[in-house]
This record gives sequence, C-alpha cells and structure tokens, in this order.
Amino acid sequence: MHWRSKLLHPSRRAPAGFRSLAPAVYRGSTVVFERTADIRDDWRQSAHGYTYGLYGNPTTLELGARIAEIEGAYHSFIVPGGQAAIATVYLALCQTGSHGLVPDNAYGPNREFAGGLLRRLGIEIETYDPAIGARIADLIRPDTALIWAESPGSVTMEVQDVPAIAGAAHERGVPVALDNTYAAGVLFDAFGAGVAVSVQALTKYVGGHSDLLLGSISVANADLYERIGSAWSQLGMAVSPDDASLALRGLQTLGVRLERLEASALAVARWLANRPEVAAVLHPALPGCPGHDLWQRDFTGSSSVFSFVFDPRFTARDVAAFVDRLALFRLGFSWGGTASLAMIYPDLRRPGRDDTGRLVRLNIGLEQPEDLIADLSKAFAAGTGRS
Ligand SMILES: Cc1ncc(COP(=O)(O)O)c(C=O)c1O
Repeated sequence: MHWRSKLLHPSRRAPAGFRSLAPAVYRGSTVVFERTADIRDDWRQSAHGYTYGLYGNPTTLELGARIAEIEGAYHSFIVPGGQAAIATVYLALCQTGSHGLVPDNAYGPNREFAGGLLRRLGIEIETYDPAIGARIADLIRPDTALIWAESPGSVTMEVQDVPAIAGAAHERGVPVALDNTYAAGVLFDAFGAGVAVSVQALTKYVGGHSDLLLGSISVANADLYERIGSAWSQLGMAVSPDDASLALRGLQTLGVRLERLEASALAVARWLANRPEVAAVLHPALPGCPGHDLWQRDFTGSSSVFSFVFDPRFTARDVAAFVDRLALFRLGFSWGGTASLAMIYPDLRRPGRDDTGRLVRLNIGLEQPEDLIADLSKAFAAGTGRS
C-alpha cells in the first residue's frame, strides 16, 4: 500500500488489554459495523449496541449509567447542561395545547423557557407557590402534562413537599420532574419520593471544579425512557467525551467534597445568622428557612449554596459595596465548585417578598471556613464600622 493509504489503514497497532483504573475517553461520530446485516440506526444504544456517536459513546454512556445507579433511576440521559436537561423534558412531555406547572422560585431560565419558546409553541406554563404541597391537586387540569418541582428553589431556597406533590400528581396521571441539582442526586431520593424525572446540572456538584457544563435527565421507567429518549435523540443532545470523563472523575470525589462543603457552608451560615446586619439566612438546614421541617424529613444533608438577606436599613448600594469588598469570595454565577462565590440578584421577583437588592447568594467552596468568615467580617466592618 502507498504510505497515504497506510495512514488510514495501519497494520501495526498498540497491544490491546490496557486496564486503566480511569475510564477511557472515546471520541467518535462514526461507528463501524462488521457487516451490512448489523447496520441499525437506533438511539437506544445501552440496550441495542452502538450505532452513531450522536447517541453517546462508552464514555458518555458510562457517565449516564453511573448517574442512574446513584439516583436509582431506570436510565439517565447525559445532555450538554442543566438547562438543556430542563428544555428536553419540557419538549418531550408537553405539546401544543398542554398546560404545565412550575414553582415561582424555579431556576430563572426554566421560567424563561416556559414564558418564551414554549408559549410560542402554544404550551401554557403556570407558576405556583413552592409551599403548595398536596394542594397542587387544585391546579391540575385535564390538559396538565407536566409539573416541575425544584427543592430547594433557586436563590430563595424554599424546600418543597415533593412527596405530597408527586402523590397528588400521580393520582391524576401527571409526571413530576424535579430539578435535583442541589442534592447532587444523592441528598434527596427523588424516585423514592415518587418523582418521574430527575434532572441535574452536572455542571455543579458532579463536575465540581467549574470547568465543564453537563446535565442529566434520569427517568423512573421504560415509558419515560422512550418519551424522553425520543426527544433527546431528535434534539441532537450530544456531549463531549472529554467533559464526560471529567464528570466521571468528579464523581469519585463527590462524597468527600459534599461532606466538606456541607460543614463549611453551615459554619458560615450560622455565623451570618448572628450578625446584626443580617435579617435572614436562607439555608435549608437552618430553622429560619421556609420548608426547613421538610428538609429535615426528606434530605440526608445540605450542600454549599445558600442566601442571606440584609436588614432593611441597608440599601441596594450598601449591599453592592459589601459584595465588592469581599476578597476571597469571587463574583460569578453558578455554584458547586471549589471556589467560594457571591452574587446579588437585583431584580429578584418572588410573590409576597421583596428582597430587591438585599439578598446575596453564596456558594461556599473548599477554602478554610474561618478565612471565609474573616473575609465577610471585614466586608461588614468596613460598611458599618463594626467588626
Ligand atoms: C437549579 C439549577 N438548575 C439548572 C441550572 C442550569 O445548569 P447549566 O448551567 O448546566 O445549564 C442551574 C444553573 O445555574 C441551576 O442553578
């Protein structure tokens, strides 16, 4: 053969049988079949073998299998991010004329998708009070196709009675999808609570190092596997095997990271609760947080993200100046990584509460908590003259 052909059809190869502890990174779009009789085009690769890289490769399917195992799911689909997971669930379970329900404190882009693209498609998504519990039954209509839960809710951290919501929905045959990102898929048993679909932004705790974007959609049964899988494959939700391998690495340390993050976040939250500048600390493990009793009943731990609200005597400018004085806390979106972050939500809208400009969300990282407390203390002292 000409050397050009040899470049593509080598006869000398590396020996097989390298048994690395680390999962391999498989790149590839095309999957080669042995003979024409083997050719299939089926996204159900976990069941029927590999057909095309768009539907996953051994690295991404390994990640999905591990997420499914940890969450106790029938199957987990891996998608490019948490928001991609949310959008896929909506598009899989709703159609023109459908009605859906989403808590009014849900992750902002979830509600934006509901009020934007879905409305254009003739799908009506109504918001509900996250504290509704079993009274969700009153909002379910014959055309209700999907109920979202997010517990604790984004930024204001209300814990929901997910088993009660799932129970009421189940009686009427409506699937409940839970954004289970806060619990990293492990601190809350979504499927034990009766949820049909559990999504995670793997970007947060599973990735754990702020260097990747990935999401997962875990389903409870074979029927949802078909419904979600059909939408997932049509939407072309392929992910990079490199990102999946980073998430697989993240899984190995998830246990120790969560333990440490919980302890550090609690130390900082308890310290903040005793500050005269602070009107409320919204941390599910602290009694002041709405739904704290539900957290005690349903969760096996808390994680790294929580919010606190400045006393009303502080203006939005005071709060912004406080955040700007922080040195260890960096200003940035997202959470679940190794670095501590602070974020103000100036246009936070929640029915019945007005914390505009006074609410700060913190993500506690792996720094020593005393150093984080010293950073906060200095920022308070410079604003009030008190340490
Ligand atoms: C609760 C929650 N769900 C979903 C997402 C979306 O995740 P991603 O950034 O991976 O799209 C986020 C991101 O901030 C989030 O906080």
